[in-house]
Formats: sequence, structure tokens, C-alpha cells
Amino acid sequence: MSAIEKSIESKLEERENSGNYRILKPENGLIDFCSNDYLGFAQSSILKASIDGEINSISIILNGSTGSRLLTGNSAYIEELEKQIAAIHHCEAGLIFNSGYDANLGLFSSLPQRGDTIITDELIHASIIDGGRLSYANKYTFKHNDLNSLEDKLKQARGNCYVVVESIYSMDGDASPLADILNITEKYKAALIVDEAHAVGVYKYGLIDQTLNNRIFARIVTFGKAMGCHGAIVLGSDLLRNYLINFARSFIYTTAPPMHHFASIKMAYKHLADADKEILALRNKISLFKRKVVSNSEHPLISSDSAIQCIVLKSNGKAKALALNLQSSGFDVRPILSPTVPTGSERVRICLHSFNTENDIILLTENINKFINA
Ligand SMILES: Cc1ncc(COP(=O)(O)O)c(C=O)c1O
Repeated sequence: MSAIEKSIESKLEERENSGNYRILKPENGLIDFCSNDYLGFAQSSILKASIDGEINSISIILNGSTGSRLLTGNSAYIEELEKQIAAIHHCEAGLIFNSGYDANLGLFSSLPQRGDTIITDELIHASIIDGGRLSYANKYTFKHNDLNSLEDKLKQARGNCYVVVESIYSMDGDASPLADILNITEKYKAALIVDEAHAVGVYKYGLIDQTLNNRIFARIVTFGKAMGCHGAIVLGSDLLRNYLINFARSFIYTTAPPMHHFASIKMAYKHLADADKEILALRNKISLFKRKVVSNSEHPLISSDSAIQCIVLKSNGKAKALALNLQSSGFDVRPILSPTVPTGSERVRICLHSFNTENDIILLTENINKFINA
């Protein structure tokens, strides 16, 4: 074995010893309590038929896009779609990226310059951390949803300052106090950027209402979660869009997705316009789950009204044991282990969907209650 292979092997051994070794698994046929398909769009035959219809109605079909957006991968169709999505979210402009990860990487690596400051909530998504790491800006994190901690960091900020939050946090499922965060951010003349990955769909067009809309510098909407397809858009001003086209390397140096991708996004938005029934069903399933779980101080349920509900087990071993217990009863749930979440907050993360049956939710909660109250 070469020195390089030995070093790879030792890193993997380290991971295995800490109980965090990752492996890919094929689909398992269990009842879905862990995907991001909150409204069932990804498995909707109606949405599939409308995407097929849209694709068939486009005269020039390319299996691949043949180049980056700046070369041969662009089309009037994509730019019109960006305008439509921006209008739906009451924004001036939008730029579609190949994924949410790419969108955050491109935005946060290109926008903040040397001497500027990025302040993120401590639970911010890895894609935002990675984007910030590629910039030369100063970086601070503030305590989760803690306005005093945010203000402390704002006092230390230099240059142009960007505060970044998620409207619904991906690991805890709780909401950001957006109006309060915006007030403090404005007090220090900083710009607020909001990642709406887990809010759009679940809360129809997200959690940024008309009163906050014009005050938010940029937002990220991803399409791989409740929208049931793939990709993401950065929404903001025309100026920001032009900037990203010129400087966001994850936009510039990659082949554009094929037409099917854009047609799917367009049809998913059409589907969302008529999805009030699914959204209400999801709300009811979330309430049912919260009513039925009997948590306790040792194993609390993190306060959340979103589709993401977490029971804290406080150790990797216990989180894995509960997940295994639920999986063996037919439910697809996953443990979230440290270091993905801080030590002591290891949990089982449950994603609820409009299509989960009441019976399945009741059975799931009975199993959880038995385990955590044993
Ligand atoms: C808050 C947040 N932002 C961005 C992303 C990345 O989006 P995508 O999966 O489209 O790359 C995720 C995905 O998990 C997320 O949870």
C-alpha cells in the first residue's frame, strides 16, 4: 500500500472508530419519514405528466445542454423561467444554479471580498460554510437564533457585512426570527441573506412575506426538496444577478443542466400554485405527530412547526439505537450524529410528508414513545 493509500485508510479508520463511517445504501422500501419530498411532488404522476407534456411541447430538444450558460447552455426559456420565479417571489431577478450547494458556493465565495464580513447562525448549512471558506472575508458565527449574540458579532464586523440565516433550519427544523434579525441587521447597515431551502413548498412560497421582502438582500430557493425536482435559484436585484453571472465560479465553470431540468422546475411551480390541499395535509400531519410524541427532559423534541421534527437522544449510540428500532418496525428514519450536530445534541430527525398516513404517524410515535420513556 502506498503512503497516500495508507493516509486515506487511516482517515477512514478514524471515521469508523468515531462511529460516523458513511456508506451508500440502495432504496429500502421502508415508509418514508426522512426524504425532503415534503409534499410528494417527486413521486407525483400528475407532475410527471405535466413535465412530459412541457418537454414534448419544446421544439428544440437537447439531451444535454452542450455548454455552460455563458457559452451554449443558455436559452430564452431559462431566462424567462428565471423572470417568472423572481416575480412569484416578488423579487427583481433570479439566477438558477445547478444545485443549492452550487448556489451557496457561488454566492458566498464571490460576494464578500477581503476585508468584508460574513456572519452566520451556528447551525447554518455546510454549503454556506464552504462558500464562505472560499472567500477572503472575515467570518463569525452567532449562537443559534440568539439576537444578542448576533449583535455582538455585528459590532465586530468590518467592511461590507452579510448576515446569513435559514428561514427553516435543516437540522433542527425550527424557524429563524426573521423580522427581529432583519431589524438588528439593518441597524448595523448589514445585508441579510436567507436560505429558504426547507421553507419553500412547506410554506407555499416561503417565509419571507411582503413586509420583509424588499429589505432582504438575497435569498436562496432550492428545488430538490418540497419542489420535488433539482437545482436552486438565487433571488435578489438585477445588479446581484449580473454580478453572479460575472463572478460566481460555480455558475460560470459548469455545464448547464439539460432542458428537462428547467421544464421540471417550471412545472413544479405550476403544481405548487395548486398545492394548497397537500400543504394543508402536511400541516395536519405535523400537528398530529407533535400531539402524539410524548417527549421528556432527557429526550426533548426540538421546538419546530416545520416538516422537520427532531428527538434529541444526546449520544450517537442512543440516536443510532432509536433509528434502528424504528427502521426494524418499517419506518425510514435516520440518526443525525456528532460531529454533523454538536456533541450532546445527537438526534433522530423525522421528516413529515403530506402523503404519510395518520396510521403510520401514530405507529411511529408509539414506537418513539416506548423507546424514549422506557
Ligand atoms: C439549508 C440548505 N441549503 C442548501 C442545501 C443544498 O441544496 P441542494 O441539495 O439543492 O444542493 C441544502 C440541502 O440539504 C440545505 O438544507
